Amino acid sequence: MTQAYVFDAYGTLFDVHSAVRKHADSVGPDADLVSDVWRQKQLEYSWTRTLMDRYLDFWDLTEQALDFALAKVPTANKDAKKKLLDAYWHLECFDEVPTVLTELKETGKKVAILSNGSSGMLLAAVKSAGLSDLVDDCISVDRIGRFKAVPAVYQMVLDDYQISANDVSFQSSNRWDIAAASAFGFQTVWCNRGDQPDEYSDMPPDRIVSDLNALIAKHG
Ligand code: LAC
Repeated sequence: MTQAYVFDAYGTLFDVHSAVRKHADSVGPDADLVSDVWRQKQLEYSWTRTLMDRYLDFWDLTEQALDFALAKVPTANKDAKKKLLDAYWHLECFDEVPTVLTELKETGKKVAILSNGSSGMLLAAVKSAGLSDLVDDCISVDRIGRFKAVPAVYQMVLDDYQISANDVSFQSSNRWDIAAASAFGFQTVWCNRGDQPDEYSDMPPDRIVSDLNALIAKHG
């Protein structure tokens, strides 16, 4: 029985590529590549730093990853850095997110975010996307100083809400995040926005959806 709907933030509720898209002309002809490298490095740093036990705030990782992306892509305009970082604080949410969260909230269950993002980043993103009244809690890894996918991250939800793993419906567009959450015991919904091939076959999601609308289709 679901007691809480818990969402990954970046890529699931918020479009991480909207920062570069907003300033694509200024970034240059390979703006999409810059955005991909930026995201990939941000995640890589989160995994390697957790393995090394050298935590650094997700905002610092985001800035370091952007430095790498701008250096790596020859056509990238390095002067776009400040604009891109500013835009990361005000990422667009995906179109269906306000409607879906509104309907889920009306069920009376908890609606929360569980993310690598620092509390400051998450609150700013939620506010600028107009979701403040729809999200009960932003649970950030900065409380434990380790990033996803260590089990201690997912455990924070159970500690906060005093519920069992099976009471949590966890939604993420990141297949590796879903793998960890499934292994932890959450009910999992992989939001496969990018139509990616499946992986981590021994840790499958309970459901695969193409966007979050599928969460409310069953209610209405
Ligand atoms: C997050 C990253 C993994 O929001 O997207 O936790």
